[in-house]
Amino acid sequence: MLTARDGAEIRKMKPGASSRMSGLYRLSIEDRRRELMKRVEVQHDEIGALDWGGLLAADADNLIENVLGTYKLPFAVCPNFLIDGQERVLPMVVEEPSVVAAASNAARIAREGGGFVTEADEPVMIGQVQVLDVPDLPSAIQRIDEARAELLEMANACHPNLVARGGGARGIEVRTLPEDQHQLVVHILISCCDAMGANLVNTVAERLADRIAGLAGGSPGLRILSNLADRRLVRVAVRIPAHALAIAKIPGEQVRDQIVAASRFAEIDPYRAVTHNKGIMNGVDAVCLAVGNDWRSVEAGAHAYAARGGRYGPLATWRTGEDGHLLGKLEMPMAVGMVGGAIRVHSLARLGLKIASVENSTDLGLVMACAGMASNLAALRALATIGIQRGHMSLHARSVARAAGAKDGQVELVARLLAQSGEIRPENAEAIIKDLGL
Ligand code: MEV
Repeated sequence: MLTARDGAEIRKMKPGASSRMSGLYRLSIEDRRRELMKRVEVQHDEIGALDWGGLLAADADNLIENVLGTYKLPFAVCPNFLIDGQERVLPMVVEEPSVVAAASNAARIAREGGGFVTEADEPVMIGQVQVLDVPDLPSAIQRIDEARAELLEMANACHPNLVARGGGARGIEVRTLPEDQHQLVVHILISCCDAMGANLVNTVAERLADRIAGLAGGSPGLRILSNLADRRLVRVAVRIPAHALAIAKIPGEQVRDQIVAASRFAEIDPYRAVTHNKGIMNGVDAVCLAVGNDWRSVEAGAHAYAARGGRYGPLATWRTGEDGHLLGKLEMPMAVGMVGGAIRVHSLARLGLKIASVENSTDLGLVMACAGMASNLAALRALATIGIQRGHMSLHARSVARAAGAKDGQVELVARLLAQSGEIRPENAEAIIKDLGL
């Protein structure tokens, strides 16, 4: 039984606007921007940041070290998402062809079963304090347990504003490591509200380290957050009628069964699971980049979570429901934020957040997870049937046709003839354009 998440306050798209946009790829860049502005509350100057890249070299110089300039990547819009009954278009930054097309196509298919349904944990991150040279583990654990209230208070005192916003310390946990009888690790759990939380948590871990080490009778070791954000999980479910999965004359029921078989393959083989998850991360990372978040942290957390049972497995799995629908489930950690970091200085990260119409960091994480699930569905549907090269080739043919000079209304025809010619090369595209007298 799928249950909708409640409690999240979501900024909606324009009243009555649908995220469905068919044939977006046929439009010019200008027309796509116009279509977006009809649906999402973004202003001309915000969209205009796409023309200058959204990040001045002088601002980049304040962000990292030894800056020489800035580096551009394609920024796209991925339409068709229906998430918890809300229409959503997603921003995506990615250099790999097909990621945007695949996710938007899968989101369209998912709509046929009512779209994605999500839920999330409170945005709790883990700060680790390692304590070394502990003489007596059981009594150290007891003393830390007894000082729990004091430690929580110390943690909250580091961030009174976070506490005022409803976040703050949520728990203290002590772990021992079987490999070392003189070491323990204290986890400080902090609810980070709209921040990703790295800075908040690191401050707390550093502030509490000496007191914790003193209680344990040992010496403080590392003090840093854990990127295995398994207290900050997001979950997505989707339920799709089999007929919606049909592709290239292959009946939907057969496609469904092949998707389930592909899921089972990933469940028993880590070599396949990692590629399955790479497909999920295609969507997750593309949105993550578009909203200026730390994709290395999301990646690290995702793969560690995938291996939590001792064997690496898939983050999303697929089954057939009793009614014959395809049922998909995804669960993964999602440490993302809407404040701080690159968002402050990068106009396109702020544009990305506006396009996604997200109201809080939890909502952002859920949207990213839906992008991942759509990417996974699209990949499995293609892999289990016609393979992925056909789709890649037609996209490639389109871009070669465009580069060879085909105009907006001609690209489809030139690309089709080019794909049929079997050799997708610029000189062939130019010859086709010439033959057609375009
Ligand atoms: C390519 O970027 C992603 C895929 O390999 C994912 C998968 O195999 O599931 C197509």
